[in-house]
Amino acid sequence: MTVDRFLPVAEPDLGPLEEQYLLDAFRSGWISSIGSYVERFEQSFAELCGARYAVAVSNGTVALDLALLAAGVGPGDEVIVPALTFVATAAAVRHVGAEPVFVDSEPEIGTMDPVAVARALGPRTKAIIPVHLYGHPADMDPILLLARGRGITVIEDAAEAHGAKYKGTTVGSLGDMSMFSFYGNKILTTGEGGMVVTNDSTLAARIRFLKDHAMDPTRRYWHPEVGYNYRMTNLQAAIGCAQIERIVELTARRQEVVDRYRVAFAGSGVTINPFRSWATPVPWLVCALLPDGTAHETRDDLIVTLKSHGIDSRPYFGLLSVMPPYRECRRAGRDNAELHHAAALSSRGLNLPSVTWLRDEPAVRIAPVLLDR
Ligand SMILES: Cc1ncc(COP(=O)(O)O)c(C=O)c1O
Repeated sequence: MTVDRFLPVAEPDLGPLEEQYLLDAFRSGWISSIGSYVERFEQSFAELCGARYAVAVSNGTVALDLALLAAGVGPGDEVIVPALTFVATAAAVRHVGAEPVFVDSEPEIGTMDPVAVARALGPRTKAIIPVHLYGHPADMDPILLLARGRGITVIEDAAEAHGAKYKGTTVGSLGDMSMFSFYGNKILTTGEGGMVVTNDSTLAARIRFLKDHAMDPTRRYWHPEVGYNYRMTNLQAAIGCAQIERIVELTARRQEVVDRYRVAFAGSGVTINPFRSWATPVPWLVCALLPDGTAHETRDDLIVTLKSHGIDSRPYFGLLSVMPPYRECRRAGRDNAELHHAAALSSRGLNLPSVTWLRDEPAVRIAPVLLDR
C-alpha cells in the first residue's frame, strides 16, 4: 500500500544557488551583519521594487517598528490598520506606543477598504498601514489621496507581496515607506529577515541609524539616541541574493499551483485567490473562500478533516479587533463601526497547500476532500 505524501501549506524553495551563496558567505568568515551580500541584497531588492533605498533588517516586524519610528509615530498618535491582517501590523503600532484603529476589508480580496479609512481618520491619525494581503495589493490611490496634505505617513505592509503590482506599479514604491518579510513561508525567504524600502533619503538614513544602535555615522561608539540592533546577517542576505535571482521562477511556479486549484474548484462554490482588475497579485498562499455565510466552525471542521487525509491547511487570520490587547481600540467600517467583511472573510477563508512541487494533488486529493465528493 502506498502512503500519500503529506501536503504542507508552505515550505521554502531552496536550491543549489542558495547553497552556493550561503557557503560562500560562511567560508568568507563574514557571518555577522557586515559583508558584501547585505549590500547586494539591498540593492537588488530596491531595484525589484523600483525604489531608491532598501534597508535590510532582522525580520518584518522590526521593519514595521523602524518605519513607524522613522515616521515619528509615538504615544498619543493613532495608526489606521486593517482588522484582517497578521498580528504584527497592529503589534508594531503598540511597540512604538501608539494606538491602532481597525478598519474593515473590501469584500473577497480582504484588503483595507478606503471608504472605511476615510471614516476612521481623526485629529490624531499619524499613519496608515495598508496591507497587501495574501499577495493582493490594497487599493492604494484613494488611500494615498486621503493621506496627502494631512501630514499622514503611508507605510505599505508588503510582507506577503514581493513583486505584486498595483495598476502596473510594483508594490513597495507607492507609499512613503514599505516593508517586507522574508520569513520561511514567504515567496522570497532568508529564514528570518525583513526590508524597509523608501524613495526618501532622509527616512532611509534614519532607519539605517536606528537599526544599528543609533551610532553616529561619523563618530564610532557615539550614540546620540537610544537605538536597536535590528540588523540582517550576511548569511541571511546570501540566501536572499539567490532567491531574488530566482524570483521569476519562484513566482511562476506558485502561479501554476494556483491555476491548478482554479481548475480543480471551478464551479464548486469555493473561490480561489479572488482578485480585482487593477491588481497583479502574487500567489503567496493559495486562498480558498468557502461559500458566503460559512461559519468559522464549519471551516475549522474542514481543517481537521483535511488533516486526517494528510493535507495541511490554515485558517485566515483572526479578526484583531476582538483579541484581548486590541478590544478597546477604535474601529470603522462602511456603516457604523462594523467590520462585516473582515469578519466574514476571517470565518470563511482558509489557506491550502501552496508548495511549488504540487502537480495533480489539488484535483485528485484536495478538492475531493474539501468538497466531500
Ligand atoms: C502582513 C504581515 N505583516 C508583518 C509580518 C511580520 O513579518 P515577520 O514574520 O518577518 O516578522 C508578517 C509576517 O509574516 C505579515 O504577514
